Amino acid sequence: METYLNTGIKQIIDQFPEVGGILDAHGIGCAPCSVGTCLLKDIIEIHHLGEDEEKVIMAKIAAVLFPDKPIQVPAMKRKISTEPEKISYSPAIKKLMDEHVLIKRYLNLIPAILKNLDIESKEGRQLILDGVDFIRSYADKYHHAKEEDILFKYFDADHGIIKAMLEEHKQARNHVKAVLDALEHRDLDTIARRLTAYRDLLSAHIRKEDEILYPWMDKNLSIKQVGELFSRFHEADREIGYSPEKYQALVERFEEKLNPKEV
Ligand SMILES: [Fe+2]
Ligand SMILES: [Fe+2]
Repeated sequence: METYLNTGIKQIIDQFPEVGGILDAHGIGCAPCSVGTCLLKDIIEIHHLGEDEEKVIMAKIAAVLFPDKPIQVPAMKRKISTEPEKISYSPAIKKLMDEHVLIKRYLNLIPAILKNLDIESKEGRQLILDGVDFIRSYADKYHHAKEEDILFKYFDADHGIIKAMLEEHKQARNHVKAVLDALEHRDLDTIARRLTAYRDLLSAHIRKEDEILYPWMDKNLSIKQVGELFSRFHEADREIGYSPEKYQALVERFEEKLNPKEV
Protein backbone atom coordinates (compact mmCIF):
# COMPACT_ATOMS: atom_id res chain seq x y z
CA MET A 1 0.00 0.00 0.00
CA GLU A 2 2.90 2.33 0.84
CA THR A 3 4.01 2.21 -2.81
CA TYR A 4 0.56 3.25 -3.99
CA LEU A 5 0.41 6.10 -1.45
CA ASN A 6 3.50 7.52 -3.15
CA THR A 7 2.20 7.00 -6.69
CA GLY A 8 0.63 9.74 -8.85
CA ILE A 9 -3.15 9.59 -8.71
CA LYS A 10 -3.48 9.74 -12.50
CA GLN A 11 -1.31 6.64 -12.84
CA ILE A 12 -3.44 4.80 -10.26
CA ILE A 13 -6.70 5.82 -11.95
CA ASP A 14 -5.35 4.77 -15.37
CA GLN A 15 -4.53 1.36 -13.94
CA PHE A 16 -7.60 1.08 -11.67
CA PRO A 17 -10.40 3.31 -13.07
CA GLU A 18 -12.67 2.34 -10.15
CA VAL A 19 -10.46 4.45 -7.86
CA GLY A 20 -11.53 7.55 -9.80
CA GLY A 21 -15.16 6.66 -9.11
CA ILE A 22 -14.49 6.19 -5.38
CA LEU A 23 -12.80 9.60 -5.10
CA ASP A 24 -15.54 11.18 -7.18
CA ALA A 25 -18.23 9.75 -4.89
CA HIS A 26 -16.52 11.55 -2.00
CA GLY A 27 -16.40 14.86 -3.87
CA ILE A 28 -12.73 14.57 -4.87
CA GLY A 29 -12.62 15.24 -8.59
CA CYS A 30 -9.27 13.67 -9.53
CA ALA A 31 -10.51 11.67 -12.51
CA PRO A 32 -11.30 14.69 -14.73
CA CYS A 33 -8.19 16.65 -13.58
CA SER A 34 -6.03 17.29 -16.61
CA VAL A 35 -2.75 17.23 -14.70
CA GLY A 36 -2.95 14.51 -12.04
CA THR A 37 0.49 14.97 -10.52
CA CYS A 38 -0.80 14.65 -6.93
CA LEU A 39 0.25 11.53 -5.07
CA LEU A 40 -2.47 9.41 -3.47
CA LYS A 41 -1.26 10.47 0.01
CA ASP A 42 -1.40 14.18 -1.01
CA ILE A 43 -5.02 13.79 -2.03
CA ILE A 44 -5.94 12.66 1.45
CA GLU A 45 -4.00 15.45 3.13
CA ILE A 46 -5.06 18.41 1.02
CA HIS A 47 -8.75 17.63 0.87
CA HIS A 48 -8.98 18.07 4.66
CA LEU A 49 -10.97 14.86 5.07
CA GLY A 50 -12.03 13.79 8.53
CA GLU A 51 -10.32 10.67 9.92
CA ASP A 52 -13.46 8.56 9.55
CA GLU A 53 -13.95 9.55 5.95
CA GLU A 54 -10.28 8.93 5.23
CA LYS A 55 -10.62 5.40 6.67
CA VAL A 56 -13.67 4.65 4.51
CA ILE A 57 -12.05 5.94 1.31
CA MET A 58 -8.75 4.20 1.92
CA ALA A 59 -10.47 0.90 2.71
CA LYS A 60 -12.46 1.12 -0.54
CA ILE A 61 -9.32 1.95 -2.52
CA ALA A 62 -7.34 -0.84 -0.86
CA ALA A 63 -10.09 -3.32 -1.81
CA VAL A 64 -9.68 -2.28 -5.47
CA LEU A 65 -5.88 -2.35 -5.41
CA PHE A 66 -5.65 -5.64 -3.52
CA PRO A 67 -8.84 -7.58 -4.27
CA ASP A 68 -7.40 -10.89 -3.03
CA LYS A 69 -6.15 -9.95 0.40
CA PRO A 70 -7.62 -7.67 3.05
CA ILE A 71 -5.23 -4.81 3.77
CA GLN A 72 -5.03 -2.77 6.96
CA VAL A 73 -4.46 0.85 5.95
CA PRO A 74 -2.64 2.87 8.60
CA ALA A 75 -4.07 6.33 9.32
CA MET A 76 -1.89 8.97 7.74
CA LYS A 77 0.08 11.42 9.86
CA ARG A 78 -1.37 14.91 9.56
CA LYS A 79 0.32 18.20 10.06
CA ILE A 80 -3.04 19.82 10.53
CA SER A 81 -6.20 19.16 12.47
CA THR A 82 -8.95 17.19 10.73
CA GLU A 83 -11.70 18.33 13.06
CA PRO A 84 -14.69 19.54 11.05
CA GLU A 85 -14.63 23.31 11.11
CA LYS A 86 -15.84 26.28 9.16
CA ILE A 87 -13.19 27.43 6.71
CA SER A 88 -11.96 30.91 7.45
CA TYR A 89 -9.38 32.53 5.23
CA SER A 90 -6.44 34.71 6.26
CA PRO A 91 -6.36 38.29 4.88
CA ALA A 92 -3.55 37.34 2.48
CA ILE A 93 -5.46 34.40 1.00
CA LYS A 94 -8.69 36.43 1.05
CA LYS A 95 -6.98 39.01 -1.18
CA LEU A 96 -6.24 36.35 -3.81
CA MET A 97 -9.82 35.06 -3.56
CA ASP A 98 -11.11 38.58 -4.15
CA GLU A 99 -9.01 38.71 -7.32
CA HIS A 100 -10.62 35.43 -8.41
CA VAL A 101 -14.01 37.14 -8.25
CA LEU A 102 -13.13 39.58 -11.05
CA ILE A 103 -11.54 36.80 -13.12
CA LYS A 104 -14.73 34.72 -12.74
CA ARG A 105 -16.79 37.69 -13.91
CA TYR A 106 -14.72 37.82 -17.10
CA LEU A 107 -15.01 34.01 -17.56
CA ASN A 108 -18.75 34.38 -17.22
CA LEU A 109 -18.72 36.85 -20.13
CA ILE A 110 -16.98 34.53 -22.60
CA PRO A 111 -20.15 32.86 -24.03
CA ALA A 112 -21.62 36.34 -24.64
CA ILE A 113 -18.37 37.50 -26.26
CA LEU A 114 -18.43 34.52 -28.62
CA LYS A 115 -22.10 34.80 -29.46
CA ASN A 116 -22.40 36.52 -32.85
CA LEU A 117 -18.71 37.48 -32.74
CA ASP A 118 -17.67 39.18 -35.98
CA ILE A 119 -13.89 39.09 -36.24
CA GLU A 120 -14.02 40.73 -39.65
CA SER A 121 -15.04 43.93 -37.89
CA LYS A 122 -12.60 46.12 -35.98
CA GLU A 123 -15.02 46.16 -33.05
CA GLY A 124 -15.22 42.36 -32.92
CA ARG A 125 -11.45 42.03 -32.97
CA GLN A 126 -11.13 44.65 -30.23
CA LEU A 127 -13.47 42.61 -28.03
CA ILE A 128 -11.02 39.71 -28.21
CA LEU A 129 -7.96 41.93 -27.80
CA ASP A 130 -9.41 43.63 -24.72
CA GLY A 131 -10.20 40.21 -23.24
CA VAL A 132 -6.68 39.00 -23.91
CA ASP A 133 -5.35 42.17 -22.26
CA PHE A 134 -7.50 41.40 -19.19
CA ILE A 135 -6.29 37.78 -19.08
CA ARG A 136 -2.63 38.61 -19.54
CA SER A 137 -2.43 41.74 -17.41
CA TYR A 138 -4.89 40.97 -14.63
CA ALA A 139 -5.45 37.19 -14.42
CA ASP A 140 -1.85 36.31 -15.24
CA LYS A 141 0.59 39.12 -14.46
CA TYR A 142 -1.33 40.59 -11.54
CA HIS A 143 -2.82 37.42 -10.01
CA HIS A 144 -0.98 34.25 -11.12
CA ALA A 145 2.37 35.97 -10.63
CA LYS A 146 1.55 36.51 -6.92
CA GLU A 147 0.82 32.80 -6.61
CA GLU A 148 3.87 31.65 -8.52
CA ASP A 149 6.48 34.14 -7.29
CA ILE A 150 5.30 34.57 -3.71
CA LEU A 151 2.67 32.20 -2.27
CA PHE A 152 3.83 28.91 -3.81
CA LYS A 153 7.41 29.61 -2.70
CA TYR A 154 6.31 28.96 0.90
CA PHE A 155 5.60 25.32 -0.04
CA ASP A 156 7.49 22.36 -1.42
CA ALA A 157 7.86 22.89 -5.17
CA ASP A 158 7.66 19.11 -5.67
CA HIS A 159 4.24 18.82 -4.08
CA GLY A 160 1.79 17.39 -6.62
CA ILE A 161 -0.84 20.08 -6.24
CA ILE A 162 1.68 22.92 -6.70
CA LYS A 163 2.97 21.26 -9.86
CA ALA A 164 -0.62 20.80 -11.05
CA MET A 165 -1.48 24.47 -10.47
CA LEU A 166 1.66 25.65 -12.31
CA GLU A 167 0.90 23.33 -15.20
CA GLU A 168 -2.63 24.74 -15.44
CA HIS A 169 -1.27 28.32 -15.52
CA LYS A 170 0.93 27.19 -18.42
CA GLN A 171 -2.00 25.57 -20.24
CA ALA A 172 -4.00 28.79 -19.77
CA ARG A 173 -1.17 30.83 -21.34
CA ASN A 174 -1.07 28.43 -24.29
CA HIS A 175 -4.81 28.91 -24.88
CA VAL A 176 -4.40 32.69 -24.88
CA LYS A 177 -1.48 32.58 -27.27
CA ALA A 178 -3.55 30.36 -29.58
CA VAL A 179 -6.45 32.85 -29.44
CA LEU A 180 -4.16 35.66 -30.57
CA ASP A 181 -2.63 33.55 -33.36
CA ALA A 182 -6.12 32.57 -34.52
CA LEU A 183 -7.23 36.21 -34.48
CA GLU A 184 -4.37 37.08 -36.79
CA HIS A 185 -5.53 34.36 -39.19
CA ARG A 186 -9.21 35.36 -38.78
CA ASP A 187 -9.90 31.81 -37.59
CA LEU A 188 -13.16 32.16 -35.66
CA ASP A 189 -13.55 28.44 -34.82
CA THR A 190 -10.17 28.26 -33.12
CA ILE A 191 -10.81 31.48 -31.20
CA ALA A 192 -14.11 30.06 -29.91
CA ARG A 193 -12.61 26.67 -29.07
CA ARG A 194 -9.55 28.05 -27.26
CA LEU A 195 -11.40 30.77 -25.37
CA THR A 196 -14.00 28.23 -24.22
CA ALA A 197 -11.22 25.84 -23.18
CA TYR A 198 -9.60 28.71 -21.25
CA ARG A 199 -12.90 29.38 -19.51
CA ASP A 200 -13.37 25.71 -18.53
CA LEU A 201 -9.78 25.37 -17.36
CA LEU A 202 -9.71 28.55 -15.28
CA SER A 203 -13.16 27.98 -13.74
CA ALA A 204 -12.08 24.56 -12.45
CA HIS A 205 -8.66 25.93 -11.45
CA ILE A 206 -10.15 28.72 -9.36
CA ARG A 207 -12.58 26.30 -7.72
CA LYS A 208 -9.69 24.02 -6.73
CA GLU A 209 -7.74 26.95 -5.30
CA ASP A 210 -10.67 28.42 -3.37
CA GLU A 211 -11.94 25.13 -1.99
CA ILE A 212 -8.86 22.93 -1.64
CA LEU A 213 -5.49 24.57 -2.17
CA TYR A 214 -5.95 27.87 -0.34
CA PRO A 215 -7.57 26.39 2.80
CA TRP A 216 -4.80 23.78 2.96
CA MET A 217 -2.11 26.44 2.52
CA ASP A 218 -3.70 28.74 5.05
CA LYS A 219 -3.66 25.99 7.67
CA ASN A 220 0.02 25.37 7.06
CA LEU A 221 1.11 29.01 7.21
CA SER A 222 2.15 30.59 10.50
CA ILE A 223 0.70 33.94 11.60
CA LYS A 224 4.07 35.54 10.85
CA GLN A 225 4.09 34.09 7.33
CA VAL A 226 0.53 35.29 6.67
CA GLY A 227 1.51 38.85 7.64
CA GLU A 228 4.62 38.65 5.50
CA LEU A 229 2.59 37.36 2.54
CA PHE A 230 0.04 40.10 2.86
CA SER A 231 2.67 42.82 2.73
CA ARG A 232 4.55 41.11 -0.13
CA PHE A 233 1.30 40.91 -2.12
CA HIS A 234 0.77 44.65 -1.69
CA GLU A 235 4.38 45.36 -2.61
CA ALA A 236 3.93 43.29 -5.81
CA ASP A 237 0.79 45.31 -6.63
CA ARG A 238 2.71 48.57 -6.22
CA GLU A 239 5.57 47.34 -8.39
CA ILE A 240 3.36 46.22 -11.26
CA GLY A 241 2.89 49.83 -12.33
CA TYR A 242 -0.79 49.80 -13.26
CA SER A 243 -3.94 49.82 -11.26
CA PRO A 244 -6.38 46.90 -11.13
CA GLU A 245 -9.25 49.42 -11.32
CA LYS A 246 -8.65 49.64 -15.05
CA TYR A 247 -9.57 45.96 -15.36
CA GLN A 248 -12.50 46.26 -13.00
CA ALA A 249 -13.81 48.99 -15.31
CA LEU A 250 -13.18 46.84 -18.39
CA VAL A 251 -15.23 43.95 -16.98
CA GLU A 252 -18.03 46.34 -15.97
CA ARG A 253 -18.06 47.82 -19.47
CA PHE A 254 -18.27 44.31 -20.99
CA GLU A 255 -21.08 43.35 -18.61
CA GLU A 256 -23.12 46.40 -19.56
CA LYS A 257 -22.57 45.91 -23.25
CA LEU A 258 -22.97 42.13 -23.51
CA ASN A 259 -25.51 41.32 -20.82
CA PRO A 260 -24.14 37.80 -20.08
CA LYS A 261 -27.39 36.76 -18.29
CA GLU A 262 -29.14 36.62 -21.64
CA VAL A 263 -26.75 34.07 -23.18
FE1 LIG B 1 -3.63 29.71 -9.89
FE1 LIG C 1 -5.64 31.87 -8.45
